Amino acid sequence: MLQVIKLIKDIKQRIRALKEDRVRIGFVPTMGAVHEGHLSLIREARKENGAVVVSIFVNPLQFGKNEDFDRYPRTFDNDCNLLSQEGVDIVFKPDTSEMFPDGFCTSVVPARLEDKLCGKFRPGHFRGVAVIVLKLLNLIKPDIAYLGQKDFQQAVVIKRMVSDLHLDVAIKVLPTIRDRNGLALSSRNAYLSETEKKDALCLYQALTKAHSMVNAGIQNTESIVREMEKIINTTKSAVIDYISIVSPETLEEEPIARSGNVAALAVRIGKTRLIDNMIL
Ligand code: PAF
Repeated sequence: MLQVIKLIKDIKQRIRALKEDRVRIGFVPTMGAVHEGHLSLIREARKENGAVVVSIFVNPLQFGKNEDFDRYPRTFDNDCNLLSQEGVDIVFKPDTSEMFPDGFCTSVVPARLEDKLCGKFRPGHFRGVAVIVLKLLNLIKPDIAYLGQKDFQQAVVIKRMVSDLHLDVAIKVLPTIRDRNGLALSSRNAYLSETEKKDALCLYQALTKAHSMVNAGIQNTESIVREMEKIINTTKSAVIDYISIVSPETLEEEPIARSGNVAALAVRIGKTRLIDNMIL
């Protein structure tokens, strides 16, 4: 049965008991508004571990001043139903005051990685992600933590942090789950109108264009990005934040696109900022 834990002292005690019984722990960090993308991570965690812990915490530190912290979808009851159906053991849902009590002032700086791609448009975002994920990993002490490829830069930042700080956890990054038209699943898709949902397909179309160009032997990044821009710019409600082809470890731009590089983009569809990426 799904156990809901809200307090740090209680999660610590529960994790201590699991460790004493030598139970392998799989962990899926989320901000809730659970969808098939999360469920694919949870199913993998369920297959590979004795206990599955999911966290639900809308982390204020990773939202900028004018971003969507207040309206981010909060659907806890529905989330719990979905998690129960997947056989999740524990959902950790702390309050903000529990995670960030008065006086909290420590930060984790993913230097070099934080000002690339989305970091240019969301200053401070990846520090917020790094510190909350570090805190959660310290509390849950999982053997494996599961992340989605959709948040590609986040996965790179977290893998780097785990390696740099010698954390004792394996990070598994699983493929992006898409709807039948190719739209990457995201809690933020809930903001899109039906027309915007159709417009949002331009992200996937641009990425598949890049993929097929590289497959056809075209390596000039500029020409590939230009073709991707054309696709986005012919979509009425779409405004590009960035389109880049980067190395999957350093996030440095690659002037010559090769298989194994990652095409990544952020596009605003109306008021909703969407991100997506594809390994070329
Ligand atoms: O991807 C998310 O949902 C969040 O960024 C995460 C990893 C749970 C940290 O708040």
